[in-house]
Amino acid sequence: MPAKYFYQPGQGHGLAHDPFNAIVGPRPIGWISTSDAAGRHNLAPYSFFNAFNYTPPIIGFASIGRKDTLRHIEATGEFVWNLATRPLAEAMNTSSAAVPADIDEFTLAGLTAVPSRRVRAPRVEESPVNFECRLSQLLRLQGANGDPLETWLILGEVVAVHIAPHLIIDGSYDTAAAEPILRGGGPADYFDIGPAQRFRMSRPGT
Ligand SMILES: Cc1cc2nc3c(=O)[nH]c(=O)nc-3n(C[C@H](O)[C@H](O)[C@H](O)COP(=O)(O)O)c2cc1C
Repeated sequence: MPAKYFYQPGQGHGLAHDPFNAIVGPRPIGWISTSDAAGRHNLAPYSFFNAFNYTPPIIGFASIGRKDTLRHIEATGEFVWNLATRPLAEAMNTSSAAVPADIDEFTLAGLTAVPSRRVRAPRVEESPVNFECRLSQLLRLQGANGDPLETWLILGEVVAVHIAPHLIIDGSYDTAAAEPILRGGGPADYFDIGPAQRFRMSRPGT
């Protein structure tokens, strides 16, 4: 077997493009809506995102730098996660634009902000799934040497869930029918998934 390409991130990767994002991918997208203390809306995607607990459900994402989403969550303790789907891909991308805090990315991306039921942050009406979340932990990340980084991990408990009815079939949520999009590596790679990518495997002993 040929030797594996080896690098130590602290000393550079030596390739044309950093492979890290392309290796840890494709990643689900945390499309996060918030409102500030004055009730102004904000929406932005975060692909350093995942689920971390089942009961209660907890999701989290990383803000690399102090961004509006982080500031709003610090101020209000609330946010909403919206499922980014293939029909909403361009709108999701538009909502990532670096715009001043007083610009509403819902308007920018042609999306509709609708009220949530348990939090004040708005939901994206066009997205077929929304999680209303309350901040549970906010962690400033640090390197292995203990030095603080300019990155914050925002963890929130999902306190309310909205699912478009066509995605629930015989009591099961149909992941592929929602056409979720996932972030790959490089400046522009995304993946979508459909039923063809599904395979089934039961855990040992079940
Ligand atoms: C698909 C996608 C994924 C992104 N993932 C992240 C991420 O994980 N962390 C981050 O800090 N920024 C990420 N960004 C960039 C933010 O969306 C961007 O900085 C945005 O302007 C932040 O908005 P805000 O200041 O309103 O929170 C991502 C952008 C895109 C398009």
